Amino acid sequence: MNERVSWQVCASCGQELAASDPRQRCPACRGLLELRHRAPPMTHGGLRALLDSRLGVRRGPLASGVWRYRELVLPEADDSLVSYPEGNTPLLARPAVAAWAGVPELLLKHEGHNPTGSFKDRGMTVGVTQARRVRATAVACASTGNTGASLAAYAALAGIPALVIVPKGQVAVGKLTQVLAYGARTILVRGDFDACLSLALAAGERLGVYLLNSINPFRLEGQKTIVLELLQQLGWEPPDWIVVPAGNLGNTAAFGKALREACEWGLISRVPRLAAVQAEGAAPFALSYRDGFATRHRVQAHTVATAISIGNPASYERAVQAIRETDGVVLAVSDAEILEAKAVVDASGAGCEPASAASVAGARQLVRSGVIRKTDRVVAVLTGHLLKDPDVVLAYHQGTDAPSPRANRPVEIEPKLEEIERVLSARATP
Ligand code: F0G
Repeated sequence: MNERVSWQVCASCGQELAASDPRQRCPACRGLLELRHRAPPMTHGGLRALLDSRLGVRRGPLASGVWRYRELVLPEADDSLVSYPEGNTPLLARPAVAAWAGVPELLLKHEGHNPTGSFKDRGMTVGVTQARRVRATAVACASTGNTGASLAAYAALAGIPALVIVPKGQVAVGKLTQVLAYGARTILVRGDFDACLSLALAAGERLGVYLLNSINPFRLEGQKTIVLELLQQLGWEPPDWIVVPAGNLGNTAAFGKALREACEWGLISRVPRLAAVQAEGAAPFALSYRDGFATRHRVQAHTVATAISIGNPASYERAVQAIRETDGVVLAVSDAEILEAKAVVDASGAGCEPASAASVAGARQLVRSGVIRKTDRVVAVLTGHLLKDPDVVLAYHQGTDAPSPRANRPVEIEPKLEEIERVLSARATP
């Protein structure tokens, strides 16, 4: 028999499935599935050198910041990949953001620079490639917006019909615009994200559509490359902390797996600590962390960061493992802290959507409580682009309610030069 290249394993009972099995959950116990691969052809320095040798590649699969790591992502994928390419996102130093967070060596891994403006493209290139390999006739997802935008774009690229299920009235305008424009069949559900996910799961099982939510293990293989790429950008010298916004917990889970494998295969010799940051109004994982993960909590979610407005995260068990294995922490930040962090990130020129700023707000809170030391090297992940949610930006800067602490109010004038002069001199005097 040929040596297996990749296979799926149930994270709860250990049952194994072929990589080509399109089922969403373990048929024996309904646990979450995880992908395993045979060991890469080389490890340690050899593997680092192989990956580094691809950095200059400009064409073909290896130009992608996901498929550059193909031995660790989906080694058996041939060249019929569904790729833009994606990834290759910048690791930014923004001193004003670092100063606000209170930790000078803070870097921002900006995933908003992906083709559809969020990290979801990294998972979607792998997920839609797999959908093609299992000959899916349609793909679907429930989404707070970004997954839907990414699915719609990659399905268009692959020529597969897509169904996107979103909570009506709770999706940022930039994201809904993308889903419609890329041509996905769009369902607005009169309910929250958690209701949408239940519907999508049922549609996946009963209606034969291939589900591409982050419970799909192929998605997580792609999302691992956020960590692999940032480690490579740091010359394989790991930071002390990686801070990530947390909603449905796909990223937290993917980051844990990436770090486990990076260590196992000798890419790094020390594991950074993970910090998963939720919004206070949608913090079931932070609640569980506080009681030592004794209870899995569910909440009715409500936050300005609609991307992470999730009350019953699907990748809970995998994320618990990720936090345990990395000596990680889970915390919650308020909407006010998220909006202030976002204003600081935006004014630095980097810019991000509200959910993304949770990582920077979380880093600040951890520095203030002494968990992150001021000398630590920290990478905060910005998960989505500033233009995803323009309504929140406009409400912050020109809202009529109580003025926001960092509001940059526009000034309306008559078309006269004196008026511009007046505005300029008013700015100069504090
Ligand atoms: N940041 C952004 C911008 C997101 O869109 C999401 C999730 C997260 C953070 C949280 O990541 O779910 O892996 O913990 N958005 C999903 C969606 C739920 O449907 O677009 P997670």
